[in-house]
Amino acid sequence: MNKHIVTLPGDGIGKEIMESAKQVLNAVGNEFGHGFTLQEHAIGGSAIDQYDTPLPEATLTASQKADAILLGAVGGEKWDAMPKEKRPEKGLLGIRKELGLFANLRPVKGFPSLLHASPLKEHIIDGSDILIIRELTGGLYFGQPSERRDNGNEVVDTLHYRKDEMERIIDKAFQSARLRNHHVTSIDKANVLESSRMWREIVEEKRHEYPDVTVEHMLVDAAAMKLITAPNQFDVMVTENMFGDILSDEASVLTGSLGMLPSASVRSDGVGLYEPVHGSAPDIAGKGIANPLGMILSVALMLRHSFQMETEAAAVERAVRESLEQGYYTADLDMKNGQIAGTRQMTAAVIENLTVKSVSDSICNM
Ligand code: NAD
Ligand code: IPM
Ligand code: MN
Repeated sequence: MNKHIVTLPGDGIGKEIMESAKQVLNAVGNEFGHGFTLQEHAIGGSAIDQYDTPLPEATLTASQKADAILLGAVGGEKWDAMPKEKRPEKGLLGIRKELGLFANLRPVKGFPSLLHASPLKEHIIDGSDILIIRELTGGLYFGQPSERRDNGNEVVDTLHYRKDEMERIIDKAFQSARLRNHHVTSIDKANVLESSRMWREIVEEKRHEYPDVTVEHMLVDAAAMKLITAPNQFDVMVTENMFGDILSDEASVLTGSLGMLPSASVRSDGVGLYEPVHGSAPDIAGKGIANPLGMILSVALMLRHSFQMETEAAAVERAVRESLEQGYYTADLDMKNGQIAGTRQMTAAVIENLTVKSVSDSICNM
């Protein structure tokens, strides 16, 4: 099967981990007989440098035509003082909005061999398996007005949601829960915010359509605490844009590192953009030590969700698990034993496991 993928490496470690993604895809293509055509485009700070805009027209047009999009990360100090329309982050927000990718799925499931890489106690995180569903194209991130007033003495950001924007993400949460452990925790700040009160009402209306799914409402401040003290109580967590951003970085601690988390940003027809949850990590960029696993696991999500290649996706995830079990780990993972690997070495270990395993699988199948 031939698939056309747009790759957007972006900035900082985004470029380094995109190399890993490309190598893994190449290996998957060879092992399973698929053709993946990759077309690279600019986004973020590097697009500002080349084209004076964080989201060039060519990037958007190519992304609209692609079967799926892979993104590394954007941002960096170099562009921090730019006016807001010319910030790298605007490119990322722009592509999500333009493509209508309203549902951001952030699975948080640790690998058993990384249990002791988390600063949290093993018995607390053992067995945790959470899907954070973050609304991605509304809320404070996109509300208008967003501006300074009164000669810089006043500022306003606007939290805006339409009812249908809330309904579709809440539906997505119930549907996802049906494929998992049938429990939804809806997170809001209904004790303060009008938007949260409407959100809660919609969850209450919708729950009758999904009688097989249990529902709990939780205020975001309490949820932030429970996430790291009792993570096993969660299955699907659904929340608005900014709460979801913050809670997902926090949740990454369950897995040992922010560098481990993949994500899928999708819309109803299955079109998706796949990217790790972390950013461009300017503090380690260019050193060759970035953890590529969040990016590689995002490739697995793409294979599964956009291409229905479940076997291939599972093979990538298994290769990651086996590499960790063999003791390979990157510097962000606080490990006691094993072999510290750079980005390239970690990627090579995953590819080695992918290749060896599928060869032996095919022998068994004969
Ligand atoms: P960050 O996620 O880039 O880094 C936070 C910390 O985690 C840093 O110490 C970093 O070294 C570490 N880290 C992150 N990913 C890692 C990996 N794969 N391997 C090893 N360590 C890793 O967040 P930040 O430092 O707050 O932001 C840096 C820039 O990235 C900012 O410009 C921000 O806007 C941008 N950003 C972009 C995205 C994205 O493109 N999706 C996401 C978050 C932040
Ligand atoms: C993320 C990032 C982005 C967000 C930034 C870079 C705009 O933090 O993907 O989580 O807040 O959505
Ligand atoms: Mn974030």
